[in-house]
Amino acid sequence: MEEKKNNANAAEEAANRAAQGEGETLSEESEAFAGFDDAAERAKEQSERDALSERDKALPPDPDAILEVRHLKKYFTLKKSLSGKPLSTLKAVDDVSFKIYPGETLGIVGESGCGKTTMGRTILKLYQPTAGQIFFEGADIAGYKSVQMRPLRTKMQIVFQDPYSSLPPRSTVGGILAEAVRVHKIVPPAQIKEYVLSVMDKCGLRDYYYERYPHEFSGGQRQRICIARALIVNPNFVVCDEPVSALDVSIQAQIINLLKKLQQERGLTYLFISHDLSVVKYISDKIGVMYLGSMVEYGDKEKIFGNPMHPYTEALFSAVPNPNPDEKTDRIILSGDIPSPADPPMGCKFHTRCPKAMEICSHIAPAYKEYEKGHFVACHCYPQED
Ligand SMILES: Nc1ncnc2c1ncn2[C@@H]1O[C@H](COP(=O)(O)OP(=O)(O)OP(=O)(O)O)[C@@H](O)[C@H]1O
Ligand code: SF4
Ligand SMILES: [Mg+2]
Repeated sequence: MEEKKNNANAAEEAANRAAQGEGETLSEESEAFAGFDDAAERAKEQSERDALSERDKALPPDPDAILEVRHLKKYFTLKKSLSGKPLSTLKAVDDVSFKIYPGETLGIVGESGCGKTTMGRTILKLYQPTAGQIFFEGADIAGYKSVQMRPLRTKMQIVFQDPYSSLPPRSTVGGILAEAVRVHKIVPPAQIKEYVLSVMDKCGLRDYYYERYPHEFSGGQRQRICIARALIVNPNFVVCDEPVSALDVSIQAQIINLLKKLQQERGLTYLFISHDLSVVKYISDKIGVMYLGSMVEYGDKEKIFGNPMHPYTEALFSAVPNPNPDEKTDRIILSGDIPSPADPPMGCKFHTRCPKAMEICSHIAPAYKEYEKGHFVACHCYPQED
């Protein structure tokens, strides 16, 4: 148990260093923990990437989107034969496509294990994608090596869920923040302290915290330090992976409001991952609903909350308490356990739990289609033809 925790902390620290541009990709750094990424796996990844439809590959990226993800896949090899052939593969992210425009927040929701974190980390290239395209500011970074990613590390940052394990314990707050500024040469050396103090102030951190160590702070204050560390290199895109779920409810609101304020001041774009639908509803412009590695519904917040089309989205949202006692919402209880992403059901992956499942659902996967402008759904309840 202790060993597993240490491994997880080591992986989190490696992810941090990689996100700060101080290490290689997470897959390369923590190979032993992640358990994938050998030559055979890479060859398979390459051939899957090559197999992407030429039509989709050839399409130019949307010039207005800051991030466009097409057919993104991240598979982990769980078991290999003696010759290195993958025997068992876990499809953590399985053919996901979406766009985010500058200044927007895309909220990602879905049950535990549906692939939210893996998707966020793969987009940042902390994991090497198995297949797909990741256009960041118009350039496809899916195949970029660590060295090509280094200049982009200042533009793409991440705030992790656990503010306890994601800060190095032996550095002061000033030291942690100044290091990122120094590595990326954000300001001349003589101006580093002044610059760090100005960013701390923006994140609600007092001047005298500069000399203090992470263990001297509460969870909320530590998360402010993590946010300051992400923003100090002037990113324009930030993945927020459950940034408030480890905090008390009263502190959650402060951190969410801080993220919103900083977004308005700096024109930031967020990919905001959360279990908490109320938080996602508050902060997001668009919502993506994931189930077993796939995006089952995506669109504007108003459309997704006002007119959820996918049976899984309906069930997920029916569990949110309605603050209006006069409006009765019937809770949809899903039967059965979430299937393993190592052995997902054939056809629609949700058919084993779907209250609306039909015969076709168990053997043919529904197409992911746009049913109203910007509102995508994957379900046989809606027309499948073009
Ligand atoms: N390094 C890894 N090696 C093998 N499997 C992994 C690895 N990282 C994640 N997984 C698996 O991939 C799937 C998706 O995990 P992920 O952490 O992305 O889910 P999540 O939606 O973020 O869950 P949660 O809400 O609990 O954080 C899970 O089945 C998980 O066990
Ligand atoms: S495709 Fe079928 S099983 Fe899947 S969500 Fe739609 S109705 Fe349910
Ligand atoms: Mg997660």
